[in-house]
Amino acid sequence: MDKPAAAARIKKLRSEIERHRYLYHVKDTPEISDAALDSLKNELEQLEQRYPELITPDSPTQRVGGQPLPQFTTVIHETPMLSLHDAFSIEDLKQWERRNQKIVGGPYQYFVELKIDGVAVALIYEDGRYVQGATRGDGSRGEDVTQNLRTIEAIPLTLRNAPAGRVEVRGEVYILKRDFAVMNKQRAESGLPLFANPRNIAAGSIRQLDPRLAAARPLRFFAWEITQGIPLSTRAQEYALLQELGFPVPPDAVVSNSLDEVVEVLTQLEKRRTAYDFLLDGAVIKNNDLRLAARLGIVGKAPRASIAYKFAAEEATTTVEDIVVQVGRTGTLTPVAHLQPVVVAGSTVSRATLHNADEIKRKDVRIGDTVIVRKAGDVIPEVVKSLPALRPPHAKPFRMPSRCPICRSPVKRDGVAYRCPNPQCFLMQRERILHAVSRAAFDIEGVGDKVVEQLLQKGLIEDAADLWQLQEGDLLPLERFADRSAQKLVAEIQSKKKISLARFLVALGIPHVGIVTAQDLAREFRTLHQVRQASQERLERVAGIGETTAQAIAQFFSAAATRALIEKYLQVRIKITAPSAHGPLRGKVFVFTGSLGEMTREEAKQRVQQLGGKIAATVSRHVTHVVVGSEAGSKAAAAQKLGLTILTPPEFRQMLELK
Ligand code: IVH
Repeated sequence: MDKPAAAARIKKLRSEIERHRYLYHVKDTPEISDAALDSLKNELEQLEQRYPELITPDSPTQRVGGQPLPQFTTVIHETPMLSLHDAFSIEDLKQWERRNQKIVGGPYQYFVELKIDGVAVALIYEDGRYVQGATRGDGSRGEDVTQNLRTIEAIPLTLRNAPAGRVEVRGEVYILKRDFAVMNKQRAESGLPLFANPRNIAAGSIRQLDPRLAAARPLRFFAWEITQGIPLSTRAQEYALLQELGFPVPPDAVVSNSLDEVVEVLTQLEKRRTAYDFLLDGAVIKNNDLRLAARLGIVGKAPRASIAYKFAAEEATTTVEDIVVQVGRTGTLTPVAHLQPVVVAGSTVSRATLHNADEIKRKDVRIGDTVIVRKAGDVIPEVVKSLPALRPPHAKPFRMPSRCPICRSPVKRDGVAYRCPNPQCFLMQRERILHAVSRAAFDIEGVGDKVVEQLLQKGLIEDAADLWQLQEGDLLPLERFADRSAQKLVAEIQSKKKISLARFLVALGIPHVGIVTAQDLAREFRTLHQVRQASQERLERVAGIGETTAQAIAQFFSAAATRALIEKYLQVRIKITAPSAHGPLRGKVFVFTGSLGEMTREEAKQRVQQLGGKIAATVSRHVTHVVVGSEAGSKAAAAQKLGLTILTPPEFRQMLELK
């Protein structure tokens, strides 16, 4: 391609790449995949490599980060970057309104926006081109971080429908909670100290002298203000214009016609705060009328026309009931504090991460301690520190186990991390839990493999018994768990506390023991206590149980891990019901017709009789259930005529299993 052709193609590619950036970051409606967009960027990069003289600073290829700086230079803000006064209650808001009305009258329209917990920056555009980016600094002077901010894709390098002259836009650099979680997980696994919260990462990243470091961080941006360059009359208009220029703005901003309406909005926002994938520390309420705002002026370092409403406290104190080690997918052992349930940031939590053994030592957390827990900005709750003055004499220091709590493999130390070297460990644990909640056992709906994996990864459970300890607030930080579904799942789990002995034996996952053997055991021994007591010899005397199974059962119940698990089930008050003396099929009369598939006719008859039911040869009024297999004869028609319950062979098998 010759130079003029390359220049034309480069121009087209740049504008197409910008259009897709806009669709993704501002409109939230991407048209093409990341891979396809990467491919366009690749082509652009190749062309620019051939004709370096065609590279411009606003080309999307220039986001990767340039040369490291020896130091930052100072930027003087033409308009000072102010801060906001805080309101902690509705009463504070009313006072604020009363004070302002004394100055400029009322009533007002308000504009309510999410307050993003990130780092404020100021961006300067000349004739639509990005030329400078600065931190807030002390409000009058900030640091020139132009290069670092250029790496953030949500910040446009050229404005759409660019106005002539100088435009200044301000907003917040932040990172997503999910990106934060990934980063900290990687750091924990490579033994690096953890980031305290997403905000710290954002602040640290934009102040890196080497822009390649900033480029490697998943930084994002929301714009909240056009400070100069374009005259405007309302905040709502400002938001719309920011989007037209190519900036993402915080979602769900609204105009309210009174302070009462504002309060409504705030109540809703506070409820939904954890559903956002970024940290919020409240909402900003601004007078929607910019002329009035200018007249209201400034008091101290903050404008009178705007105020920050802070959400409920994110820290609370409680006691540590236990410290339990959780094994992650990659084998990393993470200590998790089991807490006396406590309300933090509006929901009850019972678990908090302690990250690793070094952190426990540093924070000096012992079992029995009173601790401060924080929902570190809506992420997984963490223990901030212990309050040693409140420590009881029996408080127990934590020791990392030398063997994996799940598979007993010897644990290996790897930097600050400890690992279980058995790659099967996590999957085994997951399978056991899935088995315990399956239809033939506890029959809990909504606990599929994705949910179990998340619960394990976050250290919320280590076995099925832990499910009954979960609180709504424990589930909220998980992916796809809004208020409603967290509530629903907790209710579903709590509704399954009562279980038949047979199902409970299935839930335990005893080797060689399926539903049929579990039923045999339940009928024979009637209580869990009796089953646990039975010797191998006694077990062998049960019809249908052979030597191998008897041995497996006896061994299972003599293991310490089994005792501990049963103890946990009893502690969460699982109620195991004895089988009825007469058998669950008492009073039922079955007729079989056609082939039953997997089961022989003889087996089917035996099972029904074992469960207390009766068998008839022909269909009559005394019959209750007719099992109709393939190639059934005239019995099926007769059953239908009499209005009897008709079962397919799979339905019949299910009926046997679930009894
Ligand atoms: S307007 C006079 N709107 O909160 C400052 N600020 O506590 C005007 N912030 O420095 C700020 N989200 O860094 C505004 N939607 C939003 C915001 C927001 C976050 C930050 C901003 C400001 C700080 C004040």
